[in-house]
Amino acid sequence: MTLPARSTAGGRPSGTMSRMTNLATPYRTHTCGALRALDADSPARLAGWVHRRRDHGHLIFFDLRDRYGLTQVVVDADRAPDAHAAASRARSEFVLEVSGDVALRLPGMENARLATGDVELHATEVRILSEALTPPFYINDPDAPVDEALRLKYRYLDIRRQPMAERLLLRSALVRAIRDVHHEHGFVEIETPNLIKSTPEGARDFIVPSRLQPGTVYALPQSPQQLKQLLMVAGIDRYFQIARCFRDEDLRGDRQPEFTQLDLEMSFVLEDTVMDFVETMVIEVSRRAAPDRPILRVPFPRYTYEEALGRFGSDKPDIRFGLELVDLASALGAPASSGFRVFDDVLAAGGRVMAVRAPGMGSLSRSGVDELTELARRHGAKGLAHVSVDADGGLHSPIGKFLGEETLRSVADAAGAEPGDLVLIVADSFDTTTDVLGRLRTEIGARRGLADPDVLAYCWVHRFPMYKWDAEYVRWDATHNPFSGPVPEDMPLLTTASGDLSVRTPEDPAGRARAQQYDVALNGWELGGGSVRIHHREELERSFLLQGHSLEAMHDKFGGMLEAFDYGAPPHGGIALGVDRWAALLAYQTNIREVMAFPKTQSGGDLMLDAPSAPDQEQWDELGLRFVGVKRD
Ligand code: AMO
Ligand code: AMP
Repeated sequence: MTLPARSTAGGRPSGTMSRMTNLATPYRTHTCGALRALDADSPARLAGWVHRRRDHGHLIFFDLRDRYGLTQVVVDADRAPDAHAAASRARSEFVLEVSGDVALRLPGMENARLATGDVELHATEVRILSEALTPPFYINDPDAPVDEALRLKYRYLDIRRQPMAERLLLRSALVRAIRDVHHEHGFVEIETPNLIKSTPEGARDFIVPSRLQPGTVYALPQSPQQLKQLLMVAGIDRYFQIARCFRDEDLRGDRQPEFTQLDLEMSFVLEDTVMDFVETMVIEVSRRAAPDRPILRVPFPRYTYEEALGRFGSDKPDIRFGLELVDLASALGAPASSGFRVFDDVLAAGGRVMAVRAPGMGSLSRSGVDELTELARRHGAKGLAHVSVDADGGLHSPIGKFLGEETLRSVADAAGAEPGDLVLIVADSFDTTTDVLGRLRTEIGARRGLADPDVLAYCWVHRFPMYKWDAEYVRWDATHNPFSGPVPEDMPLLTTASGDLSVRTPEDPAGRARAQQYDVALNGWELGGGSVRIHHREELERSFLLQGHSLEAMHDKFGGMLEAFDYGAPPHGGIALGVDRWAALLAYQTNIREVMAFPKTQSGGDLMLDAPSAPDQEQWDELGLRFVGVKRD
């Protein structure tokens, strides 16, 4: 039988690959997701992996799989004895090339869940292209629980499984949308090098020893921050990059040592120019990459840092549900005594007494309350007070005896409590109170299922403090990256109480300066962060001095950038968004490993390649290095 050269090998009709894409190769006329009823009575050739096989002796059925789909193949011993012999040998995950004729399935045997479910391929020829060992876990059962270490060691098999493959396709669609949208808005994609000098973003550097210049190292970029600013000095105007970044820090669900940023920078901009563009871009990209996901609010809400903490107890609030924090000072009758010493003392010392409502949790058991109290203590609270409202509206609270009925009622009313609710109260500094209540808010939201999983709730948090006091090193650390600029009216605050920038104290005006720094949050995760930068050399030097760099250290670390600013730097600003985080959230995942092809384990290892590993002696020698052990205290 001669097979026609097909120009359309096809794909899943609903997928990103259109049926018109030419995927035919010498091994196949169609992909395993392409055949339809219209193809009946035509010859076809498929190539793929044996997904599931049922041997009925005379008749062998198997599903052949590739990333486009599954097609049922039938091999009949009478009709095609050689093909039958080959199919008898084939096992799960063997790679086969199967030629045959497309036939409609018998009435009643159609599989509506498969795009190819109306047809089957009656094999005339089966060729084994590769044999396969029995895989260490089920590839054909997407719901089978598999130990993660095993998945990472055999990642290439894990990616054969449909959920993992689909997530990588989604990520690819995301990156493609990012590229398209930026090009449409006049951005230039430029690659910056990975062997560079330290670019501090708050983590440790990964360093790479130089062979040609013994005794020196490159640092892998924590971000392309300095380079993209230099591209603005170079006149590129609008830059973006899908940039690989490296940070040696402790791993969490939303952090990997090697990760990807959508990094961008723009010239001649104010804070609003960048935020407006990023917002447009994020909406456009979301609609292209995840068209089924509703965006909660457009334009994205913008909260100042103070407001975000005060209302949500977080600088990356999940705004898919309410439960905003409530300040109880006036309900407690402050500045008069409330009757509860702990609260009065905290308020007198300038702290806060605040509450969050837990809807429907009024009948939480004693041990349930203890569990929440433990969570609060773990994050620095000295205690957790509560008021529960019974079905009849009656109030019950261990602090009722101190506050009295009337004040207790005002507290419950201020918190918006209704019958059946629980009100949780923390008294402490503003930072601790809001942080702890923010975590409780998140916990309550999760327990009560308050956040709609389908919704994409983007919001902005901006006007972060420029610096936070570092008592150990007696300096003002940049809260974000060290190049951020202050809001224009706060520029005069970039100084110390004495005026001498090398004599720093916690009372310095610098502590009050707000940065032109903006973060974009999505469903409770920090998705991205950026700022308008300082673009004058003297101002940047001032900021670096406040951050504790001596002039010499500054020139050693950032000399190239400072010098560039002497040659005409445009006002500029930008942002970087975590592509892994974005993809994870679009794929309903809580760990970014699930959207990375080859991620690292918690301890930074690659189980598949067995990295990191000891270098050869020859490599040590060439670099002039010797391992002398690590001092850990
Ligand atoms: P920042 O350090 O806030 O800013 O990083 C920007 C975004 O990158 C993602 N991200 C990470 N994702 C996975 N694993 C990690 N270890 C990790 N670290 C960061 C987050 C984060 O919001 N140069 C500045 C940007 C700028 O000012 O333009 C920067 O890197 O989603
Ligand atoms: P005590 O009188 O110390 O037993 O406290 C009475 C209640 O107040 C207990 O439920 C404590 O957990 C709670 N409590 C103590 N300190 C604080 C605080 N700083 N903030 C909120 N609640 C507190």
